[in-house]
Amino acid sequence: MKKTITVLPGDGIGLEVVNATTAVLDKVAEMYGHEFEYKYADIGGSAIDKHENPLPPETVDTCKSSDGVLLGAVGGPKWDNHPSGMRPEQGLLGIRKALQLFANLRPVTGHESLTDSSSLKKEVVDNVDLMILRELTGGIYFGTPQERREVDGEEAALDTMIYKKSEIARIVRQGFEMAKLRRGKLTSVDKANVLESSRLWRETVEEIKGDYPEVEVEHMLVDNAAMQIIREPKQFDVMVTGNMFGDILSDAASMLTGSLGMLPSASIGEQAPGLYEPVHGSAPDIEGQNKANPLAMISSAAMMLKYSFKMTEEADALDRAVSDVLSAGHRTGDIVKEGENALSTDEMTDKVIEVLKK
Ligand code: NAD
Ligand code: IPM
Ligand code: MN
Repeated sequence: MKKTITVLPGDGIGLEVVNATTAVLDKVAEMYGHEFEYKYADIGGSAIDKHENPLPPETVDTCKSSDGVLLGAVGGPKWDNHPSGMRPEQGLLGIRKALQLFANLRPVTGHESLTDSSSLKKEVVDNVDLMILRELTGGIYFGTPQERREVDGEEAALDTMIYKKSEIARIVRQGFEMAKLRRGKLTSVDKANVLESSRLWRETVEEIKGDYPEVEVEHMLVDNAAMQIIREPKQFDVMVTGNMFGDILSDAASMLTGSLGMLPSASIGEQAPGLYEPVHGSAPDIEGQNKANPLAMISSAAMMLKYSFKMTEEADALDRAVSDVLSAGHRTGDIVKEGENALSTDEMTDKVIEVLKK
């Protein structure tokens, strides 16, 4: 099968992890007789440098005309106070909105051989398997106005949190559908004791739940959810939540797997193409050093094979290869045991390619 993939390296370690991933995908293509054609486009800080725009229109067009999009990461200190006022992160938010990718799937899968990399106890994290389903194109990230204004005679800043009922309903339905295919439990996370948008969220879940009698549903306040993820993560199957809560909870949940460098994600809408991005950022502290863990990006590509290309067997082979390198004890610096040698990004990538098999 021939597929066109738009590759958006972005900034920092973005380039390093996407290079690792295309190398792995080339091996998948060779093994299964597929052809993956890559089209590179600019996003984020590097696009600001080149085009004075974190999301040039050509990038959006290229993404729209492809079968799937891989994104490394955007951002970095260079652009934090950029004179143009433009931020790399606007590029990422812009592409999610332009492709209408309202559902962000962030699976948190514990690898048995990695339990000693987690900062939590082995019995808390071993075999952890939960899915954070984050609403991605609404909420406080996209509310208007977002501005500075004077309040009571002094400078103030305003962000707006808006959720339309239809936006809540479509992500909540996806949560129910997903729970149905997994272990049948949905936890809806909100802040309904304070926020009106969360009260609408909760009401909407209550209205929809009648359509899914086979799914057990519970509501949980986000502060408690943050604590429960650390206390007893295995109580969760699918967690559905808004844009900002999902962002924060997923970074916290990454520690169940041992590292933020392990967590993949898929950003999906009603129409193709989906965008596949690791949960982590551009990691300026390790950029350019060949130290980044490429597994989050590689596992995101496995999600692309599964969700966008329907190549289930290939996706399973890639997931198995990731498990196998970990079981064989291969570790990048973020997950290495004290006193042991860490592999570079390139070495870890070679290990994945080496163990990939049908
Ligand atoms: P970060 O995720 O970039 O890094 C947090 C910590 O995790 C760092 O110590 C980093 O070295 C480590 N880390 C992250 N990914 C790793 C990997 N693959 N291998 C090994 N270690 C890894 O978060 P931050 O430092 O808060 O943000 C840096 C920049 O990235 C900011 O500009 C932020 O806006 C941006 N960011 C972008 C995305 C994205 O593009 N999807 C996501 C998060 C943050
Ligand atoms: C993520 C990132 C982004 C987000 C930023 C960089 C805009 O943190 O994908 O988790 O908050 O969505
Ligand atoms: Mn984040």
